[in-house]
Amino acid sequence: MLEWFAPPLLIAAAAMLPKRKMSDGKKIEEIFKNARICVKDGETYSYPKLYKTIKQEHKTTFLYTLPLGIPSEIFNKIKPVFEDGLNKDIEIEYEGLLKINVYNQKLPQKWTFDNNILAHKWEVPIGKNHEGTLYHDFDKYPHMLVGGVTRFGKTVFIKEIFYSLAITNPDDVEFYILDLKGGMEFSKYEGLPNVKSIACDLFESTKTLAYILEDIKKRQKHMKNNGFTNIVDTPIKKRTFVIVDEGAELSPDIIADKDLKKYARFCQGALSEIARIGGGLGYRLTFCTQYPTREAVPMQVKMNIVARLSFIAASQIASRVILDDNGAEELPSIPGRAIYKIEKNRVIQVPYINDEFMLKNLSEVITQKQKNIKQ
Ligand SMILES: Nc1ncnc2c1ncn2[C@@H]1O[C@H](COP(=O)(O)OP(=O)(O)O)[C@@H](O)[C@H]1O
Ligand SMILES: [Mg+2]
Repeated sequence: MLEWFAPPLLIAAAAMLPKRKMSDGKKIEEIFKNARICVKDGETYSYPKLYKTIKQEHKTTFLYTLPLGIPSEIFNKIKPVFEDGLNKDIEIEYEGLLKINVYNQKLPQKWTFDNNILAHKWEVPIGKNHEGTLYHDFDKYPHMLVGGVTRFGKTVFIKEIFYSLAITNPDDVEFYILDLKGGMEFSKYEGLPNVKSIACDLFESTKTLAYILEDIKKRQKHMKNNGFTNIVDTPIKKRTFVIVDEGAELSPDIIADKDLKKYARFCQGALSEIARIGGGLGYRLTFCTQYPTREAVPMQVKMNIVARLSFIAASQIASRVILDDNGAEELPSIPGRAIYKIEKNRVIQVPYINDEFMLKNLSEVITQKQKNIKQ
């Protein structure tokens, strides 16, 4: 009989640890016992068995073999219990063996963006975890879905990718920005030559997206005529980023007026097309929303986006809409703390960037570009 995950036991599992000093390995074993992570066969209880301990400078890795019958998925659910019990940051993975990484230091609560972390071309720094700085390659995974409750770093994150792309690719990147908080966040970047347009409301978004749909048709034709299938295999250097902040504003369900609903439907349909076929043509969509509901995130948009990023989510359901997984609801209340998901979930701290820094550095790029044109 399988016995695990009785919620009262689970909550108590970390609290039941004795106060006296105990090694991390011992604590993990106590938590297995307290949370009854075991298989019961008659009168015998089988627990995960320590196979190996690997000590490195920044972490200790505990490898366990699991008795048959313990589903490996449960370990991510109980990750917070281990974190509470050990009072350390932990990552759990399952690759034939159960791997528990216990880190010596906690992730920083804040780290400030600095140009030294910039990479090249379409690889953008997105955050730091215990193993180093993580980069997202927009040529490999063209689109990204971003969610999380308000005031935890969505807009700062998209500004950070916008800035990194603009600084690294001044001649090749262009942006269409749908800043649906009335243009409050991005209007200051209107002067940047790479910014093609900033749409601030439903009407402007409709105009921008109608233009993009036409352009998609043209690009399809051009690619077809040249026998190209994906932009990454062509000499074409240009990439077009469509950044949507507060995407739920384009949801027909929140709009009462019948005629206006049509515009919203059109916008959602266009975003779906960008997600579905835009990638191969050089379009890269970053769709951001604080309301991760089915109405706010069109099905086609979600289905065609592999890369996900969630800041703290309001509920398990919200976490699942963004990540297809629980976990974002358990993140600590630290702005910039997020789960980045491509294949697996990784907890990261997003670098902090502000407008002053961005404007100062971007204005240098603009001046340089103007000088090059004159020469
Ligand atoms: N990566 C970060 N590191 C530290 N603080 C951050 C970070 N991102 C956001 N913050 C803080 O949180 C505030 C809200 O961030 P914002 O991006 O506007 O949230 P959202 O768009 O999700 O509502 C910022 O003004 C800043 O003070
Ligand atoms: Mg915002």
